[in-house]
Amino acid sequence: MCGIVGCTGTDKAVNFLLNGLATLEYRGYDSAGIATISPDHNLHVVKCQGRVATLRDRVKNANLVGTCGIGHTRWATHGVPSDRNAHPHTDCSGKIAVVHNGIIENYEDLRAQLKEAGHEFKSDTDSEVVAHLFEDAWNGPAKGNLIAALRNAVARLEGSWALAVVCTDEPDSVVVTRHGSPLVVASTPEGAYAASDVMPLAAITKHVIQLADDDIALLQKDGTITIYDANGDEVKDPATLDIDWDASAATLGGYPDFMSKEISEQPEAIERLLKGRLTDKGIRLDELDMSNEELAQVDRVYIIGCGTSYHVGLIARNMIQHWAKIPVDIEYASEFLYSDALVTDHTLCLIITQSGETADTFAAARRLKSMGCRIFAITNVLGSSAARESDGTIYVQAGPEVSVSSTKAYTAQMVAATLVALRLAQANGNMTLDEVKKVYCELLTVPDAIRKIFKRTWQDKQLVKKLKHAQSMLYLGRGSSSATAYEGALKMKEISYIHAEAYPAGEMKHGPIALVESGFPVVAIVPQDHVHDKTLSNIMEAKSRGGYIIAVATDGDEEVANLADHVLWVPPMSEYIIPIVSIVHLQILALYVARAKGLDVDKPRNLAKSVTVE
Ligand code: G6P
Repeated sequence: MCGIVGCTGTDKAVNFLLNGLATLEYRGYDSAGIATISPDHNLHVVKCQGRVATLRDRVKNANLVGTCGIGHTRWATHGVPSDRNAHPHTDCSGKIAVVHNGIIENYEDLRAQLKEAGHEFKSDTDSEVVAHLFEDAWNGPAKGNLIAALRNAVARLEGSWALAVVCTDEPDSVVVTRHGSPLVVASTPEGAYAASDVMPLAAITKHVIQLADDDIALLQKDGTITIYDANGDEVKDPATLDIDWDASAATLGGYPDFMSKEISEQPEAIERLLKGRLTDKGIRLDELDMSNEELAQVDRVYIIGCGTSYHVGLIARNMIQHWAKIPVDIEYASEFLYSDALVTDHTLCLIITQSGETADTFAAARRLKSMGCRIFAITNVLGSSAARESDGTIYVQAGPEVSVSSTKAYTAQMVAATLVALRLAQANGNMTLDEVKKVYCELLTVPDAIRKIFKRTWQDKQLVKKLKHAQSMLYLGRGSSSATAYEGALKMKEISYIHAEAYPAGEMKHGPIALVESGFPVVAIVPQDHVHDKTLSNIMEAKSRGGYIIAVATDGDEEVANLADHVLWVPPMSEYIIPIVSIVHLQILALYVARAKGLDVDKPRNLAKSVTVE
């Protein structure tokens, strides 16, 4: 994870670096730092533990000037969050500064070799080795050539990296490269820029260049960007990307936090995604880039994801198995990488990833691809690594999601997964056109159903007093509602720091029920579906042991009303569609509890939005 930025040529270098880092804070916020080269060709580094806002204050006091610099916001992997472990890291001479996103896996060996050769280390990070390797190359074989020095330094690295380097001997240039971690660059009449993603660049340009793995780019003050590929050949026609959203999409726009803004954006995001998806022949999903015949041959589906995206996969599995009658395996990406994958000649791999940059998901997709599977991505980020590596990609178009806790991407991804399931089911003849249309028409009602939940937030508010001091909670659901339970519990624990355990309701009696005592909060997701009565029995079991029952139930369900201590009501919908709506209550509930506890809902401790390390 971590976010990096770099720029040269602009007289607003410090502004760009600080503002850019602020937009990248979703990638980590344990520490932040920048390095600039002043007009007298000296390197100035300001860095500190904590957020970009703290760095901003430090920078003000340091009175930094210069038109060339690099910056970093960190999610700690090697070395505790601290001032000394904050990037940029410098070489022994203090002329070279480096920022790094990724993990240098062989850093211990390199560090030992470099120490042996006389280098002195100032941090506990894996990243600092790069500064010293660059120093050796700069003073040795690269003979003062930035591109050669960086190529020489990375040749000794194992792992993943996006790197930006400055050196006072070339005071107007920044050199960057990537291997496994994302990096984009952009040229404007004002100067040249680099960043981990398009967010820092959205305010200054509409066109960015995507670097390929192992490309090295030299950024010069007149805005020139020269790119060389892994063989050292100049890249004349690099991949470009148009930024099609307004930079203001990533601002608060009057909301107190990004999480509430993003929750409120869900109806419009779903409407955008659904627009034009039904033709007189069925679901239109050109992105799959597979003919009806090819789709009909799919005999196995692998679903891969992490975190919230994995929970989308749980529901996707149920839908694909139910509608398309195709066996589905679903795995956490990190687990899949080290397990036996059993694929057939016609296995379709569905990777679900909001950012498209999650290292585990990406690595799993590569593995499945190498085994001959066709890879289809559901993602929110245009031009992301996952999108580039896949055979087809559906962009959910939810707009930039800034809050670490995913909300609008979750519901939009669920809608996308529903479209995939319907497309498969129609192609292989397990659903008729009329059946597909019926589900699609119900999907069209989802945005208004979510708007109804927004009018019922008082139902969630009433629970804040009860839950604010809770130590632990249980979330229960069966079938597709068990995915809602997992996602609801994840929301609660990640932003309110209340231990929240989700379990399939029927399985509760095999262990978790031991937690239930008088007043213990149990959230039960119990819509009107084919397992409704079974879930009611499980609720009864928890209630008999003193559990305080918070039910998420369908409007008008008297049985639930009589049983539960508190009900969060959801408009009636069918079994596979209602999870897209029910979760909204649980997002809002978690938000209210975290706010009441005075916590930073957008940047929960220890987490990062995009996890680009395995
Ligand atoms: C991190 C985030 C989660 C997210 C997960 C997967 O852990 O904090 O919110 O669900 O990564 O991210 P992806 O971008 O692959 O969906």
